[in-house]
Amino acid sequence: MTAQLCKDVSMFYDILGRRKSVREFMPAPIEPDKLERIMETIRRSPSAANCQPWHFYIIKDDLRRQFDTVFFKQGFYDAPVVVAGCAIPDRSWKRKCDGKQYAWVDVTIALTELILSATAEGLGSCWVASFDMDKARELLKLPPSYELVSLVVLGYPKEPLEFEEKNRKPKEEIMTVL
Ligand SMILES: Cc1cc2nc3c(=O)[nH]c(=O)nc-3n(C[C@H](O)[C@H](O)[C@H](O)COP(=O)(O)O)c2cc1C
Repeated sequence: MTAQLCKDVSMFYDILGRRKSVREFMPAPIEPDKLERIMETIRRSPSAANCQPWHFYIIKDDLRRQFDTVFFKQGFYDAPVVVAGCAIPDRSWKRKCDGKQYAWVDVTIALTELILSATAEGLGSCWVASFDMDKARELLKLPPSYELVSLVVLGYPKEPLEFEEKNRKPKEEIMTVL
């Protein structure tokens, strides 16, 4: 069977392989059409029962500058765009048997798709979970029902995005084939 969806599937794996956490950015802006395509991947991403229990803030310009006070790492200061992904648990699908809600999972999937499309566009990115939550909530004027899951910084990387080996646990330790 050769039911590949793109002409060269190795390109997709190449993009996955080049994704890495970038913590040093060039101050160059992100082109609006590029940003638009990346934002569309967020909008199209899946969520449990298609509830879309989320809100994303695309932080640029003046507010972006104010966000420097939110970060603990200087390397992020040059990133021209920050995306803040918020989960809204009240709007999430809940599993009947145990009542677990999936808003954080849904937001995480959307941010992952965002990061991979940013990589395909030649942009560097980094998840940022360690930041000043109170300041971030205040700057974004978040309603109490919004939970800020993570920030993602985006911009052109100082170093090229090249494939490199990762420090990861071996398959045998983390996977069971049944
Ligand atoms: C949920 C999550 C939160 C993270 N938060 C931070 C962070 O606050 N600061 C940071 O420098 N890196 C952060 N990272 C990046 C991880 O340190 C990084 O993904 C990990 O070391 C693997 O490296 P790689 O992304 O280059 O493959 C975070 C990653 C994830 C998935």
